[in-house]
Amino acid sequence: MPCGLFITLEGLDGSGKTTQINRLTAWLKKRGCTPLVTRQPGGTATGERIRGLVLDSRSAGLAPMAEMALMFADRAQAIAEVIRPALDAGQIVLCDRFTDSTEAYQGGGRELGSAVVLELHRLLCGNLQPDLTLLLLPGLEASLARARRRNQRTADESGSDEGRFEQEQDAFYGRVWQKYREIAAREPERVVLIAGDLSVDEVQEQIVEAVAERLIGLAAGVRNP
Ligand code: TYD
Repeated sequence: MPCGLFITLEGLDGSGKTTQINRLTAWLKKRGCTPLVTRQPGGTATGERIRGLVLDSRSAGLAPMAEMALMFADRAQAIAEVIRPALDAGQIVLCDRFTDSTEAYQGGGRELGSAVVLELHRLLCGNLQPDLTLLLLPGLEASLARARRRNQRTADESGSDEGRFEQEQDAFYGRVWQKYREIAAREPERVVLIAGDLSVDEVQEQIVEAVAERLIGLAAGVRNP
């Protein structure tokens, strides 16, 4: 089976991305393609330090523009150090969040708008586009309920503190959710929207179907079948 494909997973906090990335990794491995799995923010030594800074609730008061700049600093490093080399070597890259997250969270949630995010992506990330984006987006009410459950869990847990976003209110997540839908409507060829309240197995089925389609397309020399 051919390799060399950039796949991103997107969704609200607590949308089950991690479970699905693990399942997709196992599915790909069984078919002879070991993907490079990475996440944003994070994924490089520098990126993990940025992640600590940006997600820590002690960074309360971080200006939205500064937050966005840190997300892009993390991403530019990840592209240079990990993503680009892996793609150039013909690997499949599975990335947990990418620029759609910045558009949804900073552009939508923080109300900075899409234009500045897309422009920074062009300037700082060479406009690198995923071949396929899997967007896990249950209905707004279910998404908010999950985000709230995660907030509670985070509040109950001690130890490493990555809860800054999880302290956000429903209106913030409503804007993030809405922006994700806008992105999916704008780029239907790249973004596969997995909407509705589906079981883990049902979501996996849709993911596998989309990935298999891209792999077949890749074998035929077409990136967006
Ligand atoms: P993480 O614990 O990875 O969340 P999840 O498991 O839900 O993916 O935390 C990442 C948080 O950072 C998440 O709340 C979304 C936020 N984020 C942004 O606001 N902008 C970005 O560009 C990225 C990549 C993440």
